[in-house]
Order: sequence, then structure tokens, then C-alpha cells
Amino acid sequence: MSENFFDNKIQKIAKVLILILFSCNIFAGDDIDSYLGPGDNKEGYDSKNYTTNSISLDDRKGKKADLLQYVTIKQLGLPELIIPENNKITKEKIELGKKLFFDRRLSLNNTMSCGMCHVPEQGFTNNEIKTAVGIEGRSNLRNTPTILNVAFNKFLFHDAREFSLENQVWQPVLAHSEMAMPSFGFTIKKLELIPGYKEMFDNAFPGEGINMETFGKAIASYERALVSANSSFDKWYFGKNEEAVNDNVKKGFEVFVGKGGCSSCHQINKNEALFFDNKLHNTGIGYAESMGVLKKIKTKVQLAPGEYVEVDNEIINSVNQQKRNNDLGLYTITENPEHRWLFKTPSLRNVSLTAPYMHNGIFGTLDEVIDFYNGGGFSNELLSPMIKKLNLTKDEKNNLKYFLESLVGDNINILVADALSTPVGDLTKDDPNWANENDMGYNK
Ligand code: HEC
Ligand code: HEC
Repeated sequence: MSENFFDNKIQKIAKVLILILFSCNIFAGDDIDSYLGPGDNKEGYDSKNYTTNSISLDDRKGKKADLLQYVTIKQLGLPELIIPENNKITKEKIELGKKLFFDRRLSLNNTMSCGMCHVPEQGFTNNEIKTAVGIEGRSNLRNTPTILNVAFNKFLFHDAREFSLENQVWQPVLAHSEMAMPSFGFTIKKLELIPGYKEMFDNAFPGEGINMETFGKAIASYERALVSANSSFDKWYFGKNEEAVNDNVKKGFEVFVGKGGCSSCHQINKNEALFFDNKLHNTGIGYAESMGVLKKIKTKVQLAPGEYVEVDNEIINSVNQQKRNNDLGLYTITENPEHRWLFKTPSLRNVSLTAPYMHNGIFGTLDEVIDFYNGGGFSNELLSPMIKKLNLTKDEKNNLKYFLESLVGDNINILVADALSTPVGDLTKDDPNWANENDMGYNK
């Protein structure tokens, strides 16, 4: 037997082994696409040749990451993250906040967690629905914003009615249409009964335990750690790496800051870019919805792979269980008529992962958003003077889209895998909340 024969044999075996490993997805995890998209991945559903890409949720095991690094190490393209004095960020707080964020027992009937609207593998929003659906299928008025990079926001919610992550947390927990917990006290008592939380709170907040403030501080710490930049755009524009993006992206950037006028609201600074201005504007979307303009527009609805019909929005709205109220934006908070239809400028970082778009999820794709701006928004008496007809060519529109697509952070896959490694908070039999008569001590 020659040595050569032996070498060939080993090479063959090695090749077969590598093939097997690849087909088992052993190497998945460092690949950006592997964690993104819902379990019932419908990519390519618009083609008649569609075959399912769905994978069992059991096969989507996550991978824990050290999130604190994203807070402490500056990422290319972002300003320094300001951490509140009274809520220093620690590993223990992040871990606790993450557990709470994905714990379905934080809802009245143990079904709904924060992470079920802010779905990690769907850009920490929900790609499947225009406006959020909460506990027992209750409708919400607005689209779920991503919580990626949320820590940089001066204002929270589409109408800017909240200012701190620590306080924001309680709104969804107590909202009837979201998690429907009946009170602060009820939520805290329930947490005290769930095995494990007392120790985690004691570790994260020595001497304080579970209370309204520590609950908010823990979840806020997790959200604050979801920082994601170092995108290919950042590597090019701030990192001066000419190879990081192609010419289309560079041309799209020219449109964004030039003819498109986008950066007057989605701001880019010299050393960093948040792609928002911490202000609210009237682009006409809120106006169009409340004045019924959108009802007259048809929506393309897909019935089966490659099969579409055009349906009047009026018909789509008529099958909604709940009648939609008019959404007047900042006016609902201040009742100042000048504030009608003002909505917060969202960041555009990771925007290609966070469809559908706008406060009401009216646009399903970036192409639709770009067409909307190109047409000068929806005209109304309070329309921002910065929104006007753009006359972009087909190439300019495409390049603008390529530019927007270059804003995906390079750690997204790690953040998603980390989120998927967190338990979803099933109610187990060792949980005193299991037996109703036991829970809050009402029948003792
Ligand atoms: C039923 C779906 C749903 C659930 C559950 C939910 N959210 Fe949200 N979230 C939304 C929607 C919709 C908005 C926007 C609401 C608005 O602007 O009025 C929002 C807004 C936010 C914002 C503000 C983001 C921004 O950029 O302004 C944060 C932060 C947030 N949610 C965190 C949480 C946390 C923490 C939880 C769990 C305690 C949670 N959400 C549970 C749907 C949900
Ligand atoms: C006058 C300020 C202003 C200008 C100019 C502007 N935007 Fe916006 N943009 C906004 C506001 C405000 C919203 C949110 C509107 C809403 O929720 O109804 C928004 C939303 C978006 C969204 C949806 C983001 C999401 O997560 O839902 C995209 C994408 C976007 N803008 C891209 C652009 C592009 C591209 C341009 C240039 C062609 C542009 N914008 C110009 C203020 C502006």
C-alpha cells in the first residue's frame, strides 16, 4: 500500500466529513442569515417555484453572548452611549432584564412577552403584521418599533410620550391590549412567586429586591445593550474603507444627503450617525390615514406563491375586529392643534430588517417608502416643508435602497442568537402561579 493511496483516502474521508457537517448546519451561527427571519421562513414566497424554507423552532437554538461589550466598546458610527447615573449597567442586570423581556409569565394569562412583539429574528420588531397584536389577539393602533439602538432615543413611542427606558417598560406590561397585567403590585407579587427571580434581583440589585424601579432598571439595561452599528456603511463612511460598500451604495448615499433631502431629518454627523434628529415631523402619513385617503389606495395581497390580487384598503379595514381610531400623533399627548400628525423620526439603522414601515406599518417594503417620499408625501396643511416632490430617476431610487440596506449592524446575528438562547417563560408545575387558587393568596 503506497503512502499516496493512504493520503487520498484520508482526503476523501475529510471531504465527506466536511460535507456532512455543513449539511447539519454545524457551522451556522457565524453566518448573518442563519438566525434572521421567522421560523416559517417564507423567503421567495412571491415566486411560483416556492418551496418551503421552514425549520422547526426546536432547531433554532441560540447562543449566549457577552452583551456588555457592546455598551463598553464604542462601535463605528455611533456616538457614546449615555448610561443613567442611577442605573449603572452590569452583566447581572442585562441577564435579568433579558430573562424578563422574554418571559411570557409577565402577561396576565402567561402567553405574551415583550419579545413576542419585538421579535429578535425579525429585527426586534414584527415583520408579519402592520400593527401590533397583543394578549388574546387584541389589536393595537401602531406598528412595533425596533428596540435595536433604542438607548440613543431622547423620546420613546411614535408620539414621543415617554422619555426613559426605565419608565417605558410599565406601559406594555399594564396595557389591556398588550400584556394586560392588572397593576404594578400584582406584577411584582407574581414575579416574587416565580422560582429564581428573587435571587436574580438580589444579585443585580443588592439590598433592593423586586420592586417597580428595579424591574424597570433591569429591562432597560437589556434594551440598552442592544447596540448595533459597524455596518458596511459605517466601515466605508466613518472607517474610510473604500471596499466596504459598492458604487451603488455610494451613489445612494449621495441621493440621501443630496437630491433626496433625507438627511435633514435622518441626520448624519461628522463622526457618527443616528439617522434621526430627535424631533417629530408631519410627513402626511397620519393625515392620510385619519382623512380616509389611504382607504382609497389598493393593497397588493398575496394569496399563494406568485398569486396576487389588489384589494381596496376599505375592504381590508372592514374585516378588522376593532375599529381603528384616528391617530393624531403628538396631538394625542399635547392637544395642541399644531401638533396634529406629528410622529417621531425613527433611526434608519438596520432598517432593511424592520419592515413594515411607518407608525402604522403602511408600507411593506423600502421601495414603497422611497416612492412615497419621491411623490412628496401626502399633502396636508401641516405637511413639513422639508417633504417635497423629488423627481428621482429609477437608478437613484434603486441606489437609495441599496444605501438603506447597507445600514445593518455587523453584530445582529450575535444579538439574535443571544436572545434565542433565553427561555420563553413557560409556566411549569413547580411555579406557584400554576394552580390558580394558590397564586396571590386570595383563597387562603
Ligand atoms: C403587543 C405588542 C407589544 C408588546 C407585548 C410590547 N411592545 Fe413595545 N411596543 C409595541 C408598540 C406597538 C410600540 C409603539 C407604541 C406607540 O408608539 O404608541 C412599542 C414601543 C416600545 C418602545 C419604544 C421604542 C421607540 O423607539 O420609541 C420600547 C422601548 C418598547 N416598546 C419596549 C417594550 C418592552 C420592554 C416590552 C415588555 C415589557 C414591550 N415593549 C412589549 C408593541 C409591543
Ligand atoms: C421631514 C423630515 C423627514 C425627511 C425629509 C425624511 N424623513 Fe423619513 N421619516 C420621517 C419621519 C417623521 C418618519 C416616521 C413617520 C411615521 O411614523 O409616520 C420617517 C420614516 C422613514 C422610514 C421608515 C422607518 C421605519 O422604521 O418605519 C424610512 C425608511 C425613511 N423615513 C426613509 C427616508 C428617506 C429615504 C428619505 C429621503 C428620501 C426620508 N426618509 C426623508 C422624517 C423624515
